[in-house]
Amino acid sequence: DAPLKVAIAGCGVVGGGLLARLQKDARFQVVGVLVRDPSKPRDVEAPADLFTSDREALLALKPDILLEALSEGGAGHDLIRCALERGIDVASANKQAISRDPQGLADAARAHGSRLAYSAAVGGGAPMIETLRAAKSAGPVKGFEAVLNGTVNFMLTRLQAGADFADALADARVAGFAEEDPSSDLEGRDSAAKVRLLAFEAFGRTPAEADVPCAVLSDAFHPAGPVRQIGACFKEGDGLKASVSLDVGLDDPFFQALDGERNGLKVYGEDGRVWSCKGRGAGRWPTTESVLADLADIVRARHASLGHH
Ligand code: NDP
Ligand code: HSE
Repeated sequence: DAPLKVAIAGCGVVGGGLLARLQKDARFQVVGVLVRDPSKPRDVEAPADLFTSDREALLALKPDILLEALSEGGAGHDLIRCALERGIDVASANKQAISRDPQGLADAARAHGSRLAYSAAVGGGAPMIETLRAAKSAGPVKGFEAVLNGTVNFMLTRLQAGADFADALADARVAGFAEEDPSSDLEGRDSAAKVRLLAFEAFGRTPAEADVPCAVLSDAFHPAGPVRQIGACFKEGDGLKASVSLDVGLDDPFFQALDGERNGLKVYGEDGRVWSCKGRGAGRWPTTESVLADLADIVRARHASLGHH
């Protein structure tokens, strides 16, 4: 079989991991990599002519599959939509891009016979979307609670051990956990986007951005006891109640045990059943593996649909 043509959008922490892995995999041919600045030095070796800053030039290469890992929500969303509308399958790690309009993107995929996956956008290496889908297939879901941000959890773990706020943030950035603009992590917007995506999976609708109040982690925050940032969404009457809070004195051993960049999710069924999962929530390799798992699912689905023709 000829290798599948793959385009990668972004070549930072996540995109660079994808490029490194796919260049060594004979089943795929990387046809192009979208970045802002093609002349910037990269930490992954690749031919210089792979890189472009032109979205149309990337799509004109007619990739079979796009792996999207841009750090901008708007640019990511527009690229994903364009790709889906041209029948290109997409796996994205970009929660800000997908959470803008998950229903619209799902509709675009359906209308054009393309596939959209975004496991890596929530939970990094923790299979949160899969866990929610499993819970939902067993019966209606009442709500969920989760540690969703590796940077904040890593920093809280370090702060509790007596580290300085600026040092903890600097270490989270060096480790590749933080967003390009880490205020998105610290102000809870990263977790809020993930809450909105999980709500879409759980309830088929997404609370508005303005309806997810977020607690801010700043250097003025000096918790007296164990603390976790918890993203949550529960059914309330006909609506949804969502939040991102800093929970001091949280006594649930499941959440207490999640240290460092670990993420974890608990889903509560209306019948009282609870589903959970945990894993490394951020960083190059856990996230790369999660996108590659979506890629493997897409390849399987492509083969299955070819078999039916
Ligand atoms: P980085 O900041 O390391 O890399 C972002 C890449 O996107 C860069 O290569 C940048 O180009 C490119 N880029 C940004 N905007 C544009 C644009 N408008 N046009 C073309 N290229 C653009 O980010 P990460 O790799 O850490 O994250 C990528 C995505 O994955 C984000 O959406 C993030 O939320 C998500 N994610 C990240 C995880 C992590 O642990 N880091 C975990 C799970 C998800 P250039 O290099 O030229 O500036
Ligand atoms: N900045 C994000 C985090 C990356 O720290 O969780 C993973 O989505």
